[in-house]
Amino acid sequence: MTLFALTLLKRACGRLKTSLFTRLSPILLTAGSLLVLPAYGADEAAQMKQGKSLFTSAAPPCAICHTLKDAGSEGAVGPVLDEIKPDSARVAKALLNGLGNMPSYKAILTEVQIAALARYVSRASGGEKN
Ligand code: HEC
Repeated sequence: MTLFALTLLKRACGRLKTSLFTRLSPILLTAGSLLVLPAYGADEAAQMKQGKSLFTSAAPPCAICHTLKDAGSEGAVGPVLDEIKPDSARVAKALLNGLGNMPSYKAILTEVQIAALARYVSRASGGEKN
């Protein structure tokens, strides 16, 4: 009789464990991704902020040659960035190699700064959505 009760109890426990796990795992997964997402968003926001500030502070500043509404610049030497809407790869390439009258920033900016500018200019001009 006791043995029978014990077996029943054991089975119930086993079932409880499985169902608890199946019930909890989506919650744990959601909690996990919620922890990761804000960190990713914060990184992106920091990169956008750095890019925007470099747009007017790099030497020479992009703003003296380019119009970009988001940065409040009205330079007219190079193309209007809101019109050509470059994606980030196109911005990075122009920054690394220079183009026509545009100087190369390879020796002026770090890789991290170039990545931040590429992200900022492509997002702010509408060349890339996210
Ligand atoms: C001295 C003026 C000058 C400065 C400073 C300058 N650019 Fe340019 N930029 C130009 C000119 C001129 C072109 C067009 C070159 C051509 O097509 O011959 C150009 C082209 C570009 C293009 C388009 C590239 C392509 O593939 O068509 C992008 C994007 C760009 N510049 C971004 C920037 C950013 C970001 C900065 C600041 C880090 C910057 N530029 C600084 C003059 C400048």
